[in-house]
Amino acid sequence: MAITSHVERFAGIRTPFYYYDTNILRETLDSINAEIKKHDNYFVHYAVKANANLKVLQVINEAGLGIDCVSGGEIEQVLKAGFPANKIVFAGVGKSDWEIELGIDKEIFCFNVESIPELEVINEIAARKGKVATVCFRINPNVGAHTHANITTGLAENKFGIDMQDMETVIRLAQTMKNVQFKGLHFHIGSQILEMDDFIALAQRINDLQDQLEAAGIKIEIVNVGGGLGIDYANPEGNPIPNFKDYFAVYDKYLKLRPGQTVHFELGRAVVGQCGALITKVLYVKENAIKKFAIVDAGFTDLIRPALYDAHHRIVNLTATSAETDTYDVVGPICESSDVFDKDITLTKTKRGDLLALLSAGAYGEIMASGYNCRRLPEGYTSEELK
Ligand code: LLP
Repeated sequence: MAITSHVERFAGIRTPFYYYDTNILRETLDSINAEIKKHDNYFVHYAVKANANLKVLQVINEAGLGIDCVSGGEIEQVLKAGFPANKIVFAGVGKSDWEIELGIDKEIFCFNVESIPELEVINEIAARKGKVATVCFRINPNVGAHTHANITTGLAENKFGIDMQDMETVIRLAQTMKNVQFKGLHFHIGSQILEMDDFIALAQRINDLQDQLEAAGIKIEIVNVGGGLGIDYANPEGNPIPNFKDYFAVYDKYLKLRPGQTVHFELGRAVVGQCGALITKVLYVKENAIKKFAIVDAGFTDLIRPALYDAHHRIVNLTATSAETDTYDVVGPICESSDVFDKDITLTKTKRGDLLALLSAGAYGEIMASGYNCRRLPEGYTSEELK
């Protein structure tokens, strides 16, 4: 159902706000489950950094996905949403002591460890508590991804993970420690990746590393390939469900597993991206000699992706009734020139009071909102709430 048909539900709701279509979300989750049920050793941990809205999380939990956290706050939020602790993987290049303590107290599935000093601290804290923490090592595979430079993570120059040449040393070290149990490897090469070749390159790199480990007599159980599958920002209405079939098929075809190994995925954007829209009201339409600006009440404090990553979210006017169209720059009210959602786009002739929807905003939208300019944080509503 197109977003325009939801517009009656928006009457009386203070703009800007996020709107989540739970039908799209459930369809997306069904599509993921249909693929992973073909493999009894595939597990998807939703990357909660993409969207931690409680109601959205509850739908994802109902679908049975596990969860990928990067902070203690995220662990608290997902436990509140009902996710079982034993499905939590905990990544992050800089985990604080209290966050490690929380993970150990709750007995999470696994810590994805990014350095030797972090491993030592986890071992020390677990020892103090008389527990054993399960750990995987995040290895930097030095595999590039065809995506925006700010969201590439798997290159040697990035701050993430442990160098491949140090892999055996850190595993040997972990094996000498009493309060950590080494179980496997973790990778993540970047986000908004649409080229399956990038995931093929990762699978092949993992195969090489596994051969190396096997030669060294090291066994692993867990292979965590991270997330990164992209969505269609240009045509969300025509293509609302990401291509999970091709994505999982890559790992099925290219990743060589040893008996008993499980494969873990950390998808964020692909799970929630297309179900969300940012709904904003047009405050003014202003014209100068060369441009028409549609000035809206949402700004980069509500959706920072265009300002931060040059991202384009499709924008539609939900309420205009004119048969004519015009060309606009859609801009926010924040006192910075980068507060622009898009330039020179065609919209139905737009006037003060119209509602616009910025589509594909379910991932890294609401969660990245800030209070700059002392602006209010946007609320998020699901289609089930606004009937
Ligand atoms: N696993 C790890 C270790 C990650 O760092 C990330 C995302 C994911 C999984 C989930 O990636 P996804 O499946 O969502 O691509 N704010 C940016 C994206 C930052 C991604 C950070 N890491 C944006 O709005 O495009």
